[in-house]
Amino acid sequence: MSDPEKHVSKRTCLKSKRSRFILAIVVLIVIIAAVVPSVVVTTLKKNSMGPKAKVFVPLYIYPAPEAWAPLENVISTHPNVNFTVVINPGNGPGPDSLPDGNYTREIPKLTAYDNVRVLGYVYTSYGKRNVSAVRKDIQTYADWPTNSSNPNLAVRGIFFDETPQQYDAQTLTYLQGLTAFVKDLEGLGPDQFIVHNPGAIPDSRYLATADSTVVFEATYSTFQEREGAKLFRNIADSNRTQLCAIVHSVPESVEGKHLRGLVKQVRKVAEEVYITHLSTDYYSSFGAKWTEFVDLMAA
Ligand SMILES: *[C@@H]1O[C@H](CO)[C@@H](O)[C@H](O)[C@H]1NC(C)=O
Ligand SMILES: *[C@@H]1O[C@H](CO)[C@@H](O)[C@H](O)[C@H]1NC(C)=O
Ligand SMILES: *[C@@H]1O[C@H](CO)[C@@H](O)[C@H](O)[C@H]1NC(C)=O
Ligand SMILES: *[C@@H]1O[C@H](CO)[C@@H](O)[C@H](O)[C@H]1NC(C)=O
Ligand SMILES: *[C@@H]1O[C@H](CO)[C@@H](O)[C@H](O)[C@H]1NC(C)=O
Repeated sequence: MSDPEKHVSKRTCLKSKRSRFILAIVVLIVIIAAVVPSVVVTTLKKNSMGPKAKVFVPLYIYPAPEAWAPLENVISTHPNVNFTVVINPGNGPGPDSLPDGNYTREIPKLTAYDNVRVLGYVYTSYGKRNVSAVRKDIQTYADWPTNSSNPNLAVRGIFFDETPQQYDAQTLTYLQGLTAFVKDLEGLGPDQFIVHNPGAIPDSRYLATADSTVVFEATYSTFQEREGAKLFRNIADSNRTQLCAIVHSVPESVEGKHLRGLVKQVRKVAEEVYITHLSTDYYSSFGAKWTEFVDLMAA
């Protein structure tokens, strides 16, 4: 005996299952339609600034109280941006086993941040400086944490200034020896990062000796010329992860979307980037558009 009511109720149930299914599909489509474009747009926006790069800071500013505050402010407000900070207490670590009280107070504040790698400045006079003197400077930095009994009074690598551009077998050996020396020093750990500064694209045989090389350190207009000549595209035996670029003397008019364009351009060239509008003493203060630059590095 058939029960029409049951049939009906069964059909109703089916119908409602189907309509629920359809409703679910519709809801799903609506959700996808709402979410996907915003994800795509966000991704495109991110990509539109090119690859992420680290902010490179030649911090040759004396750490009088508050003098490093503009740096600390952007470091703490941009935890997703990495900073490579070069300190230079006295044309190197200075003559004493520890730098003065302003440095010993301020350096640990920087090294306490996870997104900061501090490097110690050492000059090499294009490979002509007495290697014992260079090693002594490096050793002084490496001894800071033990000598001060403060693990945060430390650098995590060396910035070698005035490295050569022209190839010379003896100079390559000199630099390779220094790299081996740095990589063995626990006091420069954990990564014993090495940057060379020839200030321009060096002979490519030097590149492998450093973790990063400053291939550009000059004015905005020179950068535009070199970029126009595609000089950074075809550096033999390298890619942007090993390169650092410093652009100074950026005209005041390069702001807003023009500054955005410049940051994007330089990020494409190098993994470590510094851009400043200062045209004299460009490492002894923070330029007027310092925070704007860092914001664009975070974009
Ligand atoms: C920043 O540094 C951290 C730790 O070394 C690393 O995992 C991360 O990928 C870096 N981010 C950028 C944008 O360089
Ligand atoms: C720290 O810097 C201030 C301001 O330049 C200076 O007066 C002071 O003597 C310095 N302190 C040390 C210990 O060098
Ligand atoms: C380098 O310095 C060391 C230590 O001061 C000295 O013994 C050595 O003669 C110097 N070497 C050169 C080539 O000047
Ligand atoms: C720190 O360096 C000075 C000078 O070289 C030395 O006299 C002192 O013993 C060192 N202190 C420690 C704890 O290593
Ligand atoms: C770029 O260089 C880095 C570091 O030497 C290396 O790990 C990476 O594989 C290189 N990438 C390309 C595309 O060659």
